[in-house]
Amino acid sequence: MKVATILGTRPEIIKLCPLLPLLDAHFDHVLVHTGQHYDYEMDARFFEELHLAQPKYNLKVGSGMQGKQTALMLEKIEAILEQEKPDVVIVQGDTNTALAGSLAAVKMKIPIAHVEAGARNFNKNTPEEMNRIVADHASLYLFAVDETCHQNLQQEGISSNVFIVGNTAYDACVRNLPYALTSPILRTLALDEGKYVLVTLHRAETTDDPAILSQVVNALNQLADEIALVFPLHPRTKKALEQHSLALSAKIKIIAPQPYLTFLRLIMGSRFMISDSGGIQDEAIVCNVPCVIPLNETCWPHLVKAGKNFIAGNTTQGILDIARKLLDDEELRRVKEISYPYETGMSQKIIGHLKQHHAQSV
Ligand code: UD1
Repeated sequence: MKVATILGTRPEIIKLCPLLPLLDAHFDHVLVHTGQHYDYEMDARFFEELHLAQPKYNLKVGSGMQGKQTALMLEKIEAILEQEKPDVVIVQGDTNTALAGSLAAVKMKIPIAHVEAGARNFNKNTPEEMNRIVADHASLYLFAVDETCHQNLQQEGISSNVFIVGNTAYDACVRNLPYALTSPILRTLALDEGKYVLVTLHRAETTDDPAILSQVVNALNQLADEIALVFPLHPRTKKALEQHSLALSAKIKIIAPQPYLTFLRLIMGSRFMISDSGGIQDEAIVCNVPCVIPLNETCWPHLVKAGKNFIAGNTTQGILDIARKLLDDEELRRVKEISYPYETGMSQKIIGHLKQHHAQSV
């Protein structure tokens, strides 16, 4: 059985890192990188650090308007699928890469397996929501994270070949935590364990509206007077801050995007996080660090319902209200003591399902 995996961004590399070596071991596996992320810090560094085999193809599409970026990927992926003729194409998550990979494959009638199927934030104004919906509706095999994702798919009329396998982000995080502990980053940045807040922002809905970005920046600048803040700056956010002449407080430690293990160490050592990233909400659970989400919705409402993560909205006051609660030791202890059991071993389950279903289809 020949499998082609299509990825292109930092979160796809991380979330697929436990699955890729298994695909290499069990199948004739071709890795295709669209080049949606291309900076060393956003891409090559992750392959090196996670000891992943290099992609057979790098399409080097780079950045650009959404339509142009997706169209370039579509054209180039189609040519590769035509040449490689895989039995199954794997895409992950909700990026433009996942959208292009699934569109190219479905038009060529190649079965698609979508990892992280069924996640929804119910906001079609976010590019990721549309990407998720299209990838799910194009796919034959849907690897859902949990029962909520399963129900989301059912509500859209997708009921066959949905497998609840859990979240590969947990696999990746659990596998790498022991290595992360060896990172000297806390010493390098002169940070004390549990005495700083880790911040990441990159979602278009945060960065692309200057009114919203300025609300979030105000919250961070005020919070920086109360506790140390560390902020690995995503290139999209860096550009948006410059474009809208928004300044971050000089008290905030602004650093470049970090390698995965270093970043995990920063999560583990933080008091809590402020992040609009979906993947980080999962990593927060594994590290038992609360995550304040500066958005109005999340794809992972179960983590919010459990009381481990918090939807703050994108106003200065909303973010400060929740952040200040977590500056209280009693409240922090209460949140950390809430138990949230999660499973691992998802990547193995995906391999099992792919083998079984392929055997049935030939
Ligand atoms: C993409 C995904 C998002 C994911 C995120 C993780 C989509 C719609 N969005 O967002 O779901 O959570 O990746 O980072 O696919 N840039 C660089 N160097 C890079 C990559 C990007 O400088 O290596 C800059 C470019 O200026 C580009 C901007 O970042 O215009 C946005 O990059 P893009 O890949 O379009 O989206 P992300 O914001 O990274």
